[in-house]
Amino acid sequence: MSTPTPYDAIILGAGAAGLMCAFIAGQRGRRVLLIDHAEQVGKKILISGGGRCNFTNLGITPDRYLSANPHFAKSALRRYTQHDFIALVDRHGIAWHEKTLGQLFCDGSAKQIVAMLLAECEAGDVEIALGHAIRDVTHSDASYTVTWGERQATAPALVIATGGPSIPKMGATGFAYDLARKFGLKVVEPRPALVPLTLGGDEVLFRELSGVAAPVAARAGKTSFREAALFTHRGLSGPAILQISSYWRHGQPVAIDFLPDRAPGWLTEAKRTAPRTTVRKLLGDALPNRLADTLADQLALDTELANTADKRLAEAERALAAWTFHPNGTEGFAKAEVTIGGISTADLSSQTMEARTVPGLYAIGEAVDVTGWLGGYNFQWAWSSGWAAGQAI
Ligand code: FDA
Repeated sequence: MSTPTPYDAIILGAGAAGLMCAFIAGQRGRRVLLIDHAEQVGKKILISGGGRCNFTNLGITPDRYLSANPHFAKSALRRYTQHDFIALVDRHGIAWHEKTLGQLFCDGSAKQIVAMLLAECEAGDVEIALGHAIRDVTHSDASYTVTWGERQATAPALVIATGGPSIPKMGATGFAYDLARKFGLKVVEPRPALVPLTLGGDEVLFRELSGVAAPVAARAGKTSFREAALFTHRGLSGPAILQISSYWRHGQPVAIDFLPDRAPGWLTEAKRTAPRTTVRKLLGDALPNRLADTLADQLALDTELANTADKRLAEAERALAAWTFHPNGTEGFAKAEVTIGGISTADLSSQTMEARTVPGLYAIGEAVDVTGWLGGYNFQWAWSSGWAAGQAI
């Protein structure tokens, strides 16, 4: 092996956070090496948002992030905001639009975001090394040495930006956690998030509704999201379910309000105004037919409203407002958009992302125990945390 090449900073992982960190540091005059085992940078950016990359959200606020320390993300999110990233996108002439709920997407393609980050890296003279596994990382005399392929490099700063283990078939690994542990940092137990939930037992009958979607309010514990839910051949998905999955814990029920716009008492009111109708008919008017039929079958209420006791109608209303599912699990890291948990924020500076006990070691992006809502929040964390470390290394 030849003599190690010296750099000011080595960044491991050329995803969203690593690319951001690299160009910020490079453009500050640092000599930066960015290493990734993939043959291509930013693979998750390329597939994100259905190929159009939901690159940020207009509604970024720290309370839309989950972490053992809910305050940790505040500093980075405040110092590099969604508006800063939008300004960068605008400088590159990338057209974008708001789809829904503040979610910003490229009009064209996610490739434009990757091209933009690569152009910025080039402007910062960042050296990018792709396609070789990282074989070893050591630390001595205030210097980190990284060995990959047949090469070695050293630097006083090392940034862990290798993401989380969601979607392993795209090259995602738990490497960040292994490396963090090696340097004595704690890791909050990782679990899949923004992930479909699976149903078993008597609830398998809902799997027959595979493909049916409806706007609902989904709740786990005290948290609730109003968006679409989708029945799948394995259980439940769609934005409302993906969002709630981040808050859901094994053994906990998920309650779905199938008619979140109906005021309490709507069925007894309907009995007065349309006594000859049935619950099945009313559900059919409000929901996709297959879903309406399944719910009506379960409620076993086929008499006309005029012949149904108010008490039964009130029970049906309550059931429809909080239909309780008991998911038996999630579809796991194979289908999870992100990972909750990761390198403990207790061990990191929220200003710089540097490890408190290991000078020169930094962690950014999904590798860290900060996880955003669905809708551009996770990329914004990658940009903001990457920027914070990029200013410091
Ligand atoms: P990221 O995973 O992007 O990058 C990590 C890099 O490290 C990768 O390039 C990987 O190859 C490399 N690496 C891993 N292990 C390594 C090893 N052992 N050695 C060397 N390199 C290694 N978010 C959002 O805000 N809007 C969206 O539209 C979407 N859409 C979306 C769709 C899908 C299908 C997924 C799976 C995820 C999303 N996300 C998203 C989430 C978003 O992709 C995610 O939060 C960011 O990519 C995280 O950025 P990082 O840079 O931290 O990790």
